Amino acid sequence: MKVLVKSGRVIDPANAIDEKLDILIVDGKIAELAPNIGAGEADVISAAGMLVTPGLIDMHVHLRDPGLEYKEDIITGTRAAAAGGVTSLACMPNTSPVNDNLAVTRYIISKAGEQGSANVFPIGCISKGMKGEILAEMGELKEGGCVGFSDDGLPVKDGEMMRRALEYAGTFGAPIISHAEDLSLVAGGAMNEGPVSTELGLKGIPNVAEDAMTARDIMLAELTGTHLHVAHVSTRGSVELVRQAKTRGVHVTCEATPHHFTLTDDAVRGYNTNAKMNPPLRSQDDVDAVCAGLADGTIDAIATDHAPHHIDEKNVEFAIAMNGIVGLETLLPLTLKLVGNKVLSLQQAIALISCQPARILGIDRGTLSVGAVADITLINPNKEWLVEAEKLQSKSKNSPFIGQTMRGCAMKTLLAGKEVYSR
Ligand code: DOR
Ligand code: ZN
Repeated sequence: MKVLVKSGRVIDPANAIDEKLDILIVDGKIAELAPNIGAGEADVISAAGMLVTPGLIDMHVHLRDPGLEYKEDIITGTRAAAAGGVTSLACMPNTSPVNDNLAVTRYIISKAGEQGSANVFPIGCISKGMKGEILAEMGELKEGGCVGFSDDGLPVKDGEMMRRALEYAGTFGAPIISHAEDLSLVAGGAMNEGPVSTELGLKGIPNVAEDAMTARDIMLAELTGTHLHVAHVSTRGSVELVRQAKTRGVHVTCEATPHHFTLTDDAVRGYNTNAKMNPPLRSQDDVDAVCAGLADGTIDAIATDHAPHHIDEKNVEFAIAMNGIVGLETLLPLTLKLVGNKVLSLQQAIALISCQPARILGIDRGTLSVGAVADITLINPNKEWLVEAEKLQSKSKNSPFIGQTMRGCAMKTLLAGKEVYSR
């Protein structure tokens, strides 16, 4: 089976490539990159006028399968991924049951392999039942295919437990992914603490609820010498803590979400529950700090925290609405917007959603090197499109971007050389 992707502008940050090239795919792998490859018997896909990048990688997704399929499942979630140009994703373990045992890990991997439209890399729990009491069997889960560990959705409250988790995960080279939140400081808040929360009469969540836990986890990573990845950093303080830790040589990486670098807590006005997530949307000062962190390399990856919820879980008063928004299908245009706004170069932007998350998770994806699996995204960076609930592939429609015009989208998504999405 041969496929030739012809005449696109190939962007492969891992190999510092930005050039008009053809890509020959043979049996699902990249066989050759060169300016003018003869088609021979290959199927030809024209990429003229398009960007050709490694299949995008989203390292923070809630697929909700098993158990919460009324929100999303592996089939619809990976379809949403493919439509967003994402070929690989890591899925968080807060399913029902949670992914703290091999049966769940194996179920996810086999269902995704048989029926999915993207590669799925499970994240295992740090603690059994995500209860923060006993460590999960991380070694066994890693063996079974988990690429990292997290109790995402909940913080690991107990410092000693976090220390042991870092020590164990470090022995088999998997990152601990921190959901950095001090619940005693959150104190039942529903949105960012600031002028908008005061105006709306909603209880606020102060930045220090995130900063304090980020600081603790960084210090534990420094103590143990093992890899800490901080999920969804949203505050100036957290960005600064990671920046300082990196200069000290601490093995810490972190990610930011498109909503945290695009929106402020202003989006909550009108009690918009599609602007409710955890961590909450913050101030313009925090947005500026997250953008600066992306620009200077403090933040290693852009990840969506794709968190589908049923309409009945969002169509309620703000304080009791569920946290989270869908993100897979708006990842690419919101990331490209940072290029348009001159925050990032195109190479940086693509690296943040391809080779960099791959490196964090230790997965062999995210580049277009010869011999690599041919996961490839063809992008029209200028195409304008309207975000419409009915057109989203995701089962849930909880996006604050519905009704907005986006610029840039995936035109074709190839998974191991096979088309899984075409616009
Ligand atoms: O907004 C969020 N939604 N934040 C989390 O930490 C969890 C997630 C979910 O699972 O819905
Ligand atoms: Zn999450």
